[in-house]
Amino acid sequence: MNSKINIAIDGPAGAGKSTVARMVAGKLGYVYVDTGAMYRAVTLRMLELGIPPENEDKVLQVARDMVIELKPGEEGQKVLLDGIDVTEQIRSYDINANVSRYAQIEGLRSLMVSLQRQMALRKGVVMDGRDIGTTVLPAAEVKVFMTAAVEERARRRFQEMKNPESTSLEQLTRDIAERDRLDAEREVSPLRQASDAVLLDTTRMTISEVSEAIVSLCEAYGMESSVE
Ligand code: CDP
Ligand code: CDP
Repeated sequence: MNSKINIAIDGPAGAGKSTVARMVAGKLGYVYVDTGAMYRAVTLRMLELGIPPENEDKVLQVARDMVIELKPGEEGQKVLLDGIDVTEQIRSYDINANVSRYAQIEGLRSLMVSLQRQMALRKGVVMDGRDIGTTVLPAAEVKVFMTAAVEERARRRFQEMKNPESTSLEQLTRDIAERDRLDAEREVSPLRQASDAVLLDTTRMTISEVSEAIVSLCEAYGMESSVE
């Protein structure tokens, strides 16, 4: 008998992971889990409290007491930190510039990974991030490594900015490349394609094309959707 599966989507910033993961989850009636939002929420709290990433013990101590909730809402997923809606705040320039430094901390990653595994226990989850196929859900039935040329990824991010005058496309390209570098070069669970992940280069693909490609992979696996 067919049953629900887990879908792992990894890749660098701006590849289209969250947009497509949300769409695939919607099509299948699955739950979308944005693991990047969890690292962003931790970063927000650390910046608020002035705790630098070098102070790993303090970061861990504070992170252990945080309650991060990911709630599906009408306009996409809402992120709550200790009950407060931080959905907008965690997308700020400051968070973008610092998140990868906190995400390198081994103890913090272990904490996040165990929370993320719990969210996927009952299957029917589409989870996106950097280490989902390699570390969080190595047994996920469908794994995708989504990428695109850095210029295209920066262009996409620039286009969605509410205040594009605050930066330039060139600066944004450099910022994204630097975050990719930190994510790919860190020691613990670096950004890497799992050996059994399907590579999708979305540089010239529309959102619908990417989403359809992933649904096809799921169908080929023989998964069960919650949508009739
Ligand atoms: O949306 P975008 O691709 O820009 O980033 P994100 O998915 O929100 O992730 C923000 C940052 O969190 C990444 O650059 C990584 O440093 C970190 N992250 C991670 O280390 N592991 C994950 N599973 C997800 C995010
Ligand atoms: O989650 P990730 O950082 O990988 O990317 P995203 O936030 O889902 O996508 C970044 C932007 O690129 C969004 O505004 C998407 O609408 C857009 N996008 C696109 O134009 N074409 C694609 N094939 C995928 C995403």
